[in-house]
Amino acid sequence: MNTAIRTSQLRERIAAWRKAGERIAFVPTMGNLHAGHGSLVQAARAHAQRVVVSIFVNPLQFGPNEDFAAYPRTPEADRELLRTLQVDMLFAPEVEEIYPRDQQLTARVHVPGLEDILCGAFRPGHFMGVATVVTKLLNLVQPDVALFGEKDFQQLMIIQRAAIDLCMPVEIIGVPTTREPDGLAMSSRNRYLTAEQRAVAPRIFAALDRTRAAIENGARNFDELEQEGTKALQDGGFRPDYFAIRDANTLDIPSEGARDLVVLTAARIGRARLIDNVRARAS
Ligand code: PAF
Repeated sequence: MNTAIRTSQLRERIAAWRKAGERIAFVPTMGNLHAGHGSLVQAARAHAQRVVVSIFVNPLQFGPNEDFAAYPRTPEADRELLRTLQVDMLFAPEVEEIYPRDQQLTARVHVPGLEDILCGAFRPGHFMGVATVVTKLLNLVQPDVALFGEKDFQQLMIIQRAAIDLCMPVEIIGVPTTREPDGLAMSSRNRYLTAEQRAVAPRIFAALDRTRAAIENGARNFDELEQEGTKALQDGGFRPDYFAIRDANTLDIPSEGARDLVVLTAARIGRARLIDNVRARAS
């Protein structure tokens, strides 16, 4: 596995692969890799001869009171896992490489309509930070395809929208969420859970899945379903930011006839803020 710290090293290697006519798939990450990232890399393999993974904890997507400094960083274990997965190139830049000037003055990418709702309402500036860094990384790697987890459903939609609106020559692909046997979505932030909190964490998926089943069995009072979901999480000791049923194609509040829905939640417990979602097909 090649490792590039500098963008010049990355560009050189990418240019050689391009010259040889090889397709490139890209998996951007913030490291602290787990089986969910493994499934992104495996999916990437099916799309290209070369797989590039980046590890970059992006300061621009963290709010002033969020966990940028505490975000788990495990570079040795990450490198080992990527080697096992036969990744061709790891791009692991320092902050100065990606933001050579004042971060606050960098050109930035906004996706109006999507960036301020749901998680965006609770994490101002977060999706601008995500869309900006992903745009930079896509410009550096210039992959044919880039893969993102469906666990971050809103993030995936924002990146898809940015890629289309800004005419980026890349296909954005969503990969299904990897779950622990008890249903908890895999996430680096699961590390923040105490044993007690970990024991109740599967209630998030359970509440989402109950709502999915109710919708698929014909329930249409979405306000009531959202309240029930919120209460189930509160009863488990969570502080939910939201529990929402939305149109899966737009993230709008579903219209009467909408069929393709998504149930999303973000809930805090202890130091952790966990997010998850499930798709639901209304009858
Ligand atoms: O999902 C993540 O890990 C990050 O938000 C991403 C897409 C790598 C951008 O920093």
